[in-house]
Amino acid sequence: MAARAAVRQTVNVNSDVSIILHPDYRIGTVDRRIFGSFVEHLGRCVYTGIYEPGHATADAHGFRRDVADLTRELGVTVVRYPGGNFVSNYVWEDAVGPVEHRKPFLDLAWRTVEPNTIGTDEFLQYCEREGLEPMMAVNLGTRGVDAAAALVEYCNGQAGTRWADLRIANGREEPYGVTLWCLGNEMDGPWQIGHKDAHTYGRLAADAGKAMKLVDPTIELVACGSSSMYMDTFGEWERTVLSYTYDIVDHISMHAYYEELNGDRASFLGSATAMDRFVERVVASADAVGAQKRSDKRITLSFDEWNVWYLESRFGDATDLPIQRDAPRIIEDRYSGLDAVVVGDLMATLLNHADRIAVGCLAQLVNVIAPIMTEPGGDAWRQTTFHPFATTAHLARGEALQLKVDAPTFATERHGGVPAVTAAATVDPDTGALALFVTNRTDAEQTVTLRHPGARAHLEGGRAVLADHDGARETQKAAEAYGMVDALPITHGDGTITLTLAPESWTAFHGSLER
Ligand code: AHR
Repeated sequence: MAARAAVRQTVNVNSDVSIILHPDYRIGTVDRRIFGSFVEHLGRCVYTGIYEPGHATADAHGFRRDVADLTRELGVTVVRYPGGNFVSNYVWEDAVGPVEHRKPFLDLAWRTVEPNTIGTDEFLQYCEREGLEPMMAVNLGTRGVDAAAALVEYCNGQAGTRWADLRIANGREEPYGVTLWCLGNEMDGPWQIGHKDAHTYGRLAADAGKAMKLVDPTIELVACGSSSMYMDTFGEWERTVLSYTYDIVDHISMHAYYEELNGDRASFLGSATAMDRFVERVVASADAVGAQKRSDKRITLSFDEWNVWYLESRFGDATDLPIQRDAPRIIEDRYSGLDAVVVGDLMATLLNHADRIAVGCLAQLVNVIAPIMTEPGGDAWRQTTFHPFATTAHLARGEALQLKVDAPTFATERHGGVPAVTAAATVDPDTGALALFVTNRTDAEQTVTLRHPGARAHLEGGRAVLADHDGARETQKAAEAYGMVDALPITHGDGTITLTLAPESWTAFHGSLER
């Protein structure tokens, strides 16, 4: 990986910041499915990632126990599979049945030879053993209605029909009962195998979705939204696709990756504001279609790919990549403390849209732009970004609170003015447990006055991730040395709590909130 630009953009705002919260002011219930991740047949996510027979920790099925344990610690709920770009040329039938009869195929998305050792059954049974909810994607790039409906029947059908009987013949009697289904992946992207214009995709997604729900009416469908807010077709794509699919789908997808470009630290620190605007725009696009249809139905969002991802590790539009085999090392970004701060802030944004975001997937789970890294035959370890994800998944429970955050803004080149301090909070209505997540995007300590008029609030403590200024954490050793630190002292007053935030930090506080 090339060295990151050394230039830092200084952001120095130090003035009054206040947050007001009350248990009655709520955004919505946090859907636990926002703590999802993503396993694609890409690089070393599957092979030598989650699966490595012969590894010292491998279970009877060949899956690495060390990775499964870290996944559990990370608090992952949903796992999207098998892609990503990979799914758009995938023939799922070639990866079921006896492994010795399966043939390798050339995956055109990543120009990698896929051995087909891991397929639908292996993945779904892994999810069952590990208590993960699978989110399956169907191929609407090179394939269509038939293959999509057949896969739903294979996974969810009862005995007595062709595809369900094939599953049973392959050794699995009980249907898997997969609820979440993506209607293709990033079909607006010219890089996608079988890329389509919005009308063609919208019609196909509506037809495939209809057939899939006829096989199993209990499933939830995700239509492809834009692969980024910066696509030329953004907005019009959502409008057109939903004009065909509004009545059949439940969610529309969103994908976003953020990075520090050309040393522009201020814009990078403002990434979650860009994410926030992206959510508001997709909600507006979806609601506009609903309004035109005079529909009472509300489409929710599946933010099924998000993360920090550095451009230098991307493939771009290259079509002459050498064909690779044996789980090549591709897109293995190593993260810094700054990346961890931004990931924490992005997670807080998901919480602040709890009324509309039903699913979220940190892309991806292992090795590929991932919070968990492995060495083949060696260790598994946590990247810096592991910590804010795990902490939020652990602490954020119940209802997301509608906070009133007053903070100065600073100017950024990419996003205009962004708040210097951002926050999100949840309260568990059963226990009164409060979780408060606060990001200080500035390079100075900030003092925050937390007001809780008409309610009793207490913060017991907090843990923070700091943007170390040493650059990327390139090695396993450095990543393992990085951890969360105790929050700066918290002072309780009469109706207020004073917090001090370290420069460029993300802090998770825990405590209680009652009327
Ligand atoms: O997560 C890596 C890739 O990013 C996925 O395959 C694709 O959907 C997105 O462009």
